[in-house]
Amino acid sequence: VRQTIPRAREFDSSLAFLREGYTFVSSRCDALGSDLFRTRIMMSPVVCMRGAEAAGRFYEGDRFTRKRAMPPHVLWLLQDQGSVQTLDAEEHRHRKRVFLRMLLDPEAIARLARTFRGELNRVVRSDGAHSALSVQDMMQEALARAAALWAGVPFAEEEAAARMRELAAMVENAGSIGPSNWGAILLRQRTERWGKGKIEDIRDGRLSIADDAPAAIIASHRDLGGELLPASIAAVELINILRPTLAVANFITFAALALHEHTRWVEIFREDGHDELRPFAQEVRRYYPFFPVVAGRVRKPFDWSGHHFAARDWVMLDLYGTNHDGRIWEEPGSFRPERFRDWSGDANTLIPQGGGFADTGHRCPGEEITLALIEEAVGFLTRDIRYSVPPQDLDFSLSSLPALPKSRFLMADIAPA
Ligand code: HEM
Repeated sequence: VRQTIPRAREFDSSLAFLREGYTFVSSRCDALGSDLFRTRIMMSPVVCMRGAEAAGRFYEGDRFTRKRAMPPHVLWLLQDQGSVQTLDAEEHRHRKRVFLRMLLDPEAIARLARTFRGELNRVVRSDGAHSALSVQDMMQEALARAAALWAGVPFAEEEAAARMRELAAMVENAGSIGPSNWGAILLRQRTERWGKGKIEDIRDGRLSIADDAPAAIIASHRDLGGELLPASIAAVELINILRPTLAVANFITFAALALHEHTRWVEIFREDGHDELRPFAQEVRRYYPFFPVVAGRVRKPFDWSGHHFAARDWVMLDLYGTNHDGRIWEEPGSFRPERFRDWSGDANTLIPQGGGFADTGHRCPGEEITLALIEEAVGFLTRDIRYSVPPQDLDFSLSSLPALPKSRFLMADIAPA
């Protein structure tokens, strides 16, 4: 059975993947007429797959582990040693509950959104007088400060700039090879030292924070054997909520671009339009590129689509291609928030943050937070302030990871609405 799925034309796809980025998997699926194909990345055999059914196989039933699975040049800065993402089965579910408890509580989500709004107002007040401000930079700053405050580990003023720079570098250099990636790794070590210090301060009572603050929840979490996590691992998990919260800036910058290109939505949000915020945020997550793929290795062998997936086989699931799959989405290349007005909520079709279920698999536990923050930012950009959009290069390339408008979306003449 192993020979029945087609093979990509090139012997090794490493360069093609680097060159093509987000469309690498789907363009080959289209050309080969198959939802899965075999190739090599850095000489290792890999099966690439896309679509809702593939997402279900990848995310449900504990079939895959993330251990030794991420191609080094793609996103490995986003995956930390010892983190929840590297755990499997019972151990994974136990650690994952910590994240679900912190991140799915409506009160906690509302608190983060409010804190974010406060920080946005502050950034605009202090930087607004300057001639131009990039949405990406402004959002990163407000998100990083809000996340740290919300988590219970606010940045001291003299360290804030360094911490924000480190977190941003971890996100923005994720897709590169060479010096800029090494630089990000060094910065990460610095952030981990800071995080470890905070965890120790909380445990020793030097830093007193509310019991339900995320940093306190992480610091006091016990593993299945009843032990506290080593401080270095707890620090990794703390960073595992700070860094991706800052990464929501990428979606928000794309949301600003969407508002700029589809101005009727600005009018809708100005005249209330509260019910439209969720469909708009969902379409931002579907339409714009962020994570191209996720990768795993088979834990529990299975057969699917005429192929036997044997233990340790390396598999890549196409997130971007599934979000743009014409069999799921009508006119996938059009930005149309309306499609989410009465959406069924299928677990394996809209998968910018993974498929399946967050409690039993590796699906992102931060989706509700991501949506709430995008919605908060869209409300802020359309209702709280007015701005002009000076000439700039708003193009983004589907071959650079992570993708972002080149100019990072500059705004000028910012004033309260
Ligand atoms: C997992 C994307 C925001 C925390 C994931 C996965 C993806 C993803 C694709 C699944 C990885 C896999 O299958 O191995 C994103 C994107 C975000 C985002 C595009 C937008 C910025 C967040 C936020 C948080 C968060 C805001 C927390 C505050 C996590 C954690 C995991 C994860 C802890 C690991 C889950 C596990 O392995 O069970 N994310 N995420 N993410 N995400 Fe997110």
